[in-house]
Amino acid sequence: MLATIPVSIKYTAKDGRQTEAEDGLIGLVADPNFNQNHWLYLYYSLVGDEAKNVLVRYELRSDELVMDSKKVLLDVATQREQCCHTGGGMAFDKAGNLLLSTGDNTSPRDTPFNPIDERPERAPWDAQKSSGNTNDLRGKIIRIHPEADGTAGNEPPVVAFDILKGNKPFFFREKPIEYAVKVTDKEDGSLATGKIIPAQVAVSIDYLPEGFDPIEVAQNHPGTETVARFATGQRLIGLSDCKSCHLVDKKSVGPGCTDVAKKYKDEAAAVDRLAKKIIAGGGGVWGALDERSPATDQLRRIRDGQLYSESGRKTAGR
Ligand code: HEC
Repeated sequence: MLATIPVSIKYTAKDGRQTEAEDGLIGLVADPNFNQNHWLYLYYSLVGDEAKNVLVRYELRSDELVMDSKKVLLDVATQREQCCHTGGGMAFDKAGNLLLSTGDNTSPRDTPFNPIDERPERAPWDAQKSSGNTNDLRGKIIRIHPEADGTAGNEPPVVAFDILKGNKPFFFREKPIEYAVKVTDKEDGSLATGKIIPAQVAVSIDYLPEGFDPIEVAQNHPGTETVARFATGQRLIGLSDCKSCHLVDKKSVGPGCTDVAKKYKDEAAAVDRLAKKIIAGGGGVWGALDERSPATDQLRRIRDGQLYSESGRKTAGR
C-alpha cells in the first residue's frame, strides 16, 4: 500500500437522501521525469464540507507517498447533491503540460431531455453552470504546466472594477453607475497595455439578495456566452430602428420589450424563434394596431412597399 488518503464518495440531495457515486480517487499519473523526481499526481475528491476535487502532487519514496510532500496544484469546485460525471483522466504531453479531464458534474437522470434545466434549485441538472460555462473548470480538458515548486504555472487573471461615477460603497436602486474594467494576467498581459483585447472581455454582475448563498449564486451564474449574447443583442437593437416601434416598459406601436420578455420567459427557444420571425415578419399576436399613432401609418406604408424600414422591409408585417 502506497498511502491511505480519505476521500469523499457521498452525495447528499436537498431532501437529505444520500447516494454513493463515482467520486474518490479519480485520476493518477506519474511525472514524465518520475525516475528522477518520483512525483505522482493524484486527482481526488476531498473529504469535508467544501465540495471540491483536488489535483495534488506527492513524492513517492520507498514505495510510500510522503505525506508532507503534498502540493495542491488545482482546486475544482463541485456540487455534491446529485451524482455525477466526474472525469479525472490525466496525461502529459511532450511539452510537459498536464492535461486533466473534468466531468460536467451534472445529473443525466430525472429528465429525458438534455441536462439544461434553468429552474430554481436545478443547478445539479444544468450543465450550463459547468461545461457550458467558460468560467468554470468542470466539463473541460484543462491544460496546466506543473512547476517544480508545486504550483500549476498559470495564474488566474485579476479582474477589477473602477467605479467612475456613482456611489462606491453601495448602489442606489435604478441609478446608473459608470465603471471601467481592469484585467491583468501574469501570462497574457493586461487590458491597459492592449495585450488583452477588449472585445474578448465579458463581465457580468450578480445581484445578491441579503443572506445569499454564494455557492447557489455561483452555480446559477449564467455562462459568459449568455451574458455576451445579451450585450450583443442590446447593441444590435441600438443600431437598428426597433426603438421607433418598441419602448422598454410600455406599449407603443409594438409591444413593450418587458412585456415581450415576460410573455416568453418560459419558452427556452423563444430567442431563436422570435429572431427568425423578426426577419420573416408576422403579426396578430399582440392585438390591433393603435390607429392614432403616426407610426402605425408608417408601418402600413412600409408593408405596402412605399417605405423601407431599416430592420428590413419585412419587419412591416408585424
Ligand atoms: C414599424 C414598427 C416596428 C419596428 C421598426 C419593429 N417592430 Fe417589432 N413589432 C411591431 C409590432 C406592431 C409588433 C406586434 C406584432 C404582433 O401583434 O404579432 C411587433 C412585435 C415584435 C416582437 C414580438 C413578436 C411575437 O411574436 O410576440 C418582437 C420580439 C419584436 N417585435 C422585435 C423587434 C426588433 C428586435 C426590432 C428591430 C430589429 C423590431 N421589432 C422592429 C412593430 C415594429
